[in-house]
Amino acid sequence: MVNLKEKYKDLISEAKSAAPFRTNTAFVLGSGLGDFAETVTKIKSIPTAELPGYPVSTVEGHKGFIHFCEYNKKRFILFQGRIHLYEGYDLSQSLIPALLAKELGVENILLSNAAGGVADNLRPGDLMLISAFNTINIKKEMATVFGVASAEEKENIRFNFPSKFIHQKLIEAALEEEVYLKEGIYWYNKGPSYETPAEIQMVKNFGVAAVGMSTAHEALYAAILGMKVGAFSLITNYAAGISPVKLSHQEVIETAEAVKPKLEKLIKRFIELTI
Ligand code: HPA
Repeated sequence: MVNLKEKYKDLISEAKSAAPFRTNTAFVLGSGLGDFAETVTKIKSIPTAELPGYPVSTVEGHKGFIHFCEYNKKRFILFQGRIHLYEGYDLSQSLIPALLAKELGVENILLSNAAGGVADNLRPGDLMLISAFNTINIKKEMATVFGVASAEEKENIRFNFPSKFIHQKLIEAALEEEVYLKEGIYWYNKGPSYETPAEIQMVKNFGVAAVGMSTAHEALYAAILGMKVGAFSLITNYAAGISPVKLSHQEVIETAEAVKPKLEKLIKRFIELTI
């Protein structure tokens, strides 16, 4: 595997010296989910633009900050602002949040994203735990960063994603807060275009439940680094062809807005249960 620690050493050392504390838990907030950061105490917020070499997120709904937060005396890190391959960044750049989390002492990482619902039981506004994902369409990019996985890396992948611990705690949190949580396979599409109806039909036949443009490679990398990794999708829209309505990023943002209270309850309860 390419040594990203070496490649991004200035960025890492800057982030480490700016960090007000170390903690074992981090969250990566997906499209439209970034506002969760406004519901907790921010002890310090580092604009990612101040870190040398940190890519600038260009997507609406993605602000670039690393927040060091506290809620009910529990401390954690929030990464607000994703780095997507469809923005033209390379795979190694998109892995920076996971790398930084590891370097800042994180052991448990929860990734979130906005996704289109494919399975018949998913509707906009639903939350879905990601049980598995594909990387078939980024194998070429992955080869440049990951190379051939060592035996240890393979073991890490097997044991760390999805983390039973993290997903169990999310299920507990959902039960306590009466939030309906589904579970299914996430199909990663590099984007930037949404899928075609034919592609959605194809992956539906494969057993895919939701589609999106992030998370898979980050989850894999975080798992390889030895962190326990959990991931969930907020279903913001029906995937292409599932409903006659045309897809839009605006719909993604609007659904995320409507789901904010549910999501806030879920993540806060998760924090209570795990930190
Ligand atoms: N497809 C891909 N990515 C997405 C979607 C979708 O339908 N919704 C939100 N992100």
